[in-house]
Amino acid sequence: MEPSTSSSSPAVLDLLLILLAFFPFSSSYLLPPSIIGSTIEHQNHTAISSFRVVNRRNLIQCPDANPHLRINVSSKHSPLSHDEFVNVTVSGVFHPSEGDWVAMISPSDSNVRSCLLNKIQYAQTGDLSELPLLCHYPVKAQYVSNDPNYLQCNKQERKKVNNTASEVATYSGTVSFHVINIRTDIEFVFFAGGFETPCILTRSGPMKFSNPNQPLHGHVSSTDSAATSHGTMIFTFVNHRASFLVSQMRLTWVSGSKEPQEVRYGDGRTLTSTVTTFSRDDMCTSFLPSPAKDFGWHDPGFIHSAVMTGLRPSTAYSYRYGSDSVGWSDKIQFRTPPAGGSEELKFLAFGDMGKAPLDPSAEHYIQPGSLSVIKAMTEEVESGNVDSIFHIGDISYATGFLVEWDFFLHLISPLASQVSYMTAIGNHERDYVNSGSVYGTPDSGGECGVAYETYFPMPTSAKDKPWYSIEQGPVHFTVISTEHDWTENSEQYKWMEQDMSSVDRSKTPWLVFAGFETYDFERPLQIKCRHRPMYSSTNGMFSTDDKFTKAVEPLLVQYKVDMVLCGHVHNYERTCSVYGSNCLAMPSKDRNGIDTYDHSNFSAPLHAIIGMAGFSLDNFSQPRGWSMVRISEFGYLRGHATMEDINLEFVNSNTRQVQDRFRITKRQK
Ligand SMILES: *[C@@H]1O[C@H](CO)[C@@H](O)[C@H](O)[C@H]1NC(C)=O
Ligand SMILES: *[C@@H]1O[C@H](CO)[C@@H](O)[C@H](O)[C@H]1NC(C)=O
Ligand SMILES: *[C@@H]1O[C@H](CO)[C@@H](O)[C@H](O)[C@H]1NC(C)=O
Ligand SMILES: *[C@@H]1O[C@H](CO)[C@@H](O)[C@H](O)[C@H]1NC(C)=O
Ligand SMILES: *[C@@H]1O[C@H](CO)[C@@H](O)[C@H](O)[C@H]1NC(C)=O
Ligand SMILES: *[C@@H]1O[C@H](CO)[C@@H](O)[C@H](O)[C@H]1NC(C)=O
Repeated sequence: MEPSTSSSSPAVLDLLLILLAFFPFSSSYLLPPSIIGSTIEHQNHTAISSFRVVNRRNLIQCPDANPHLRINVSSKHSPLSHDEFVNVTVSGVFHPSEGDWVAMISPSDSNVRSCLLNKIQYAQTGDLSELPLLCHYPVKAQYVSNDPNYLQCNKQERKKVNNTASEVATYSGTVSFHVINIRTDIEFVFFAGGFETPCILTRSGPMKFSNPNQPLHGHVSSTDSAATSHGTMIFTFVNHRASFLVSQMRLTWVSGSKEPQEVRYGDGRTLTSTVTTFSRDDMCTSFLPSPAKDFGWHDPGFIHSAVMTGLRPSTAYSYRYGSDSVGWSDKIQFRTPPAGGSEELKFLAFGDMGKAPLDPSAEHYIQPGSLSVIKAMTEEVESGNVDSIFHIGDISYATGFLVEWDFFLHLISPLASQVSYMTAIGNHERDYVNSGSVYGTPDSGGECGVAYETYFPMPTSAKDKPWYSIEQGPVHFTVISTEHDWTENSEQYKWMEQDMSSVDRSKTPWLVFAGFETYDFERPLQIKCRHRPMYSSTNGMFSTDDKFTKAVEPLLVQYKVDMVLCGHVHNYERTCSVYGSNCLAMPSKDRNGIDTYDHSNFSAPLHAIIGMAGFSLDNFSQPRGWSMVRISEFGYLRGHATMEDINLEFVNSNTRQVQDRFRITKRQK
């Protein structure tokens, strides 16, 4: 006889099995302390959406054996194209319920059923309370009640019962999913029981993409690293110096095929791609398997990259990439940025953008402002007013759920395929326990910078040394990683010093220092740690942060850094010319009433916190003396640099209004 079980007992059984597995000789703990600790620790570092709790449940087929249940996917293309909306219709439902939902899973053979010993692994996502869990993480999911007709039973069908004359009423509902080519086939699964207690009703069966090898998501970046010039820029100081310069641009794209492909650009030039990828083995993990290594893993396909040479600065080129066997991208036009040392640069800068689905789905980490910011910036790029983009940290927030990189790359494609898209690394790309990051938080979900570096190859000197500098127009950008050792005598510190000391200020009068993390003026001995309250109060971190203040801030003053850009905090804030929490100089109003920082008489850099590009906004506490402007709205920073001044504007991406305007000048000699 089967033992009778209540609905909660499978969870109890699993828990017992896990405890036995870890502590075979002890039953005195409810959970190992390291796991309880890790839950608290992870709580504020990883997003806990209701969708997240779907993961790692033990699933059963729902007991309901309704023979009329169907799930039907209607798509414009069969097999699926690389970018489309499909309608998923569930029909034959006797009693439409609020708990009915549809998930998109991939690959279609993923185990969405039982997953016995995995609960403890889910602790890494910060949630331990909603067990048991699914084995494989769905790409996204939505409640059928998103169709208002569903719960109101507006779409009725009558079904014959066992081929007799009698009929029953059943109901249907339709939800729309945005699907992009993620190479592996997808499947839609109809669940009952909500995200909390799901069981499988029926499945669509696998659906393939028409071309999993299709070359996609091409994005361009600058390669010329100013401080370590490889001789690729040929300066000819005859009359108009910029017009003779030669430049190069890197194009990076994704495909399911590892065979080298080509980029064809300009007047019939062709280059072959170098191909790379990363595997589950490259992800970091700890005592608890990380999401990246485990249920969040999705095969990234192959990342192709080629450096287009022989380009002229500030010039438009058309290009396409792919091959005859895998197909070609559309013909796209990009514009090279102005050469370092030329007279003008128009750039956009922001941090913490991430992504959001284009349908009403839930997914593991959504940054609600990202779509409006991307839309507003795309319009700017399309109007031809942007030379270059800087995304300084917290790039996609895939954080170990790797398919989300594909969705992010898809979203930024209209921007990054047309102008140089430069990035800096953030905690959500790099940090993981015992992985060499300055902070031991699990914020990257086990990616440890590997996915980031592969998708966004920057002009860095080596792997996992994500600092570099770049000169565009009259600006020298020094881009650092706050997630890698920056203490005195560290390799990065020495590089920073060498880089900033070697800037030729007659060529690039402006020095902008971009890092991810912001200096915490409220507690001057610390880095701003709003996402890491657990760590900001530990003694170990105090000592390293003290070194940061002692070491890095004096460098900024010594080398007359004009402006420090940082993210991590999710709002916009601008300071006076600040050093050691004190305003050394205040901006004055110019004749148009714009705050103007006079750097012909330099005292200290101003800091702009620009983490307002997508992640839920942070509020401000009591303003301090060094804080000039505080805006908690989604948007981005727009910069226009000339040899004489830089004009900067904070643009609200929803209203397109400029909500802050300031200027740095060297005009007064
Ligand atoms: C997480 O954040 C919440 C809300 O900000 C806060 O109340 C809580 O103390 C934080 N938890 C930890 C462990 O830091
Ligand atoms: C699915 O829906 C489409 C469009 O409504 C319809 O043409 C097709 O017959 C349906 N397929 C099944 C198996 O019900
Ligand atoms: C999905 O449904 C909407 C609304 O009925 C319709 O306009 C659209 O064409 C459908 N799309 C597909 C792929 O069937
Ligand atoms: C239909 O047939 C099956 C098996 O023949 C039977 O178990 C079921 O009760 C029938 N349903 C109805 C509504 O008569
Ligand atoms: C330079 O700035 C300092 C404040 O940092 C101010 O005291 C001084 O008067 C300024 N000098 C000139 C020439 O403007
Ligand atoms: C910020 O303040 C607004 C209004 O008081 C509040 O609705 C919102 O939840 C706050 N946001 C955060 C992140 O605390």
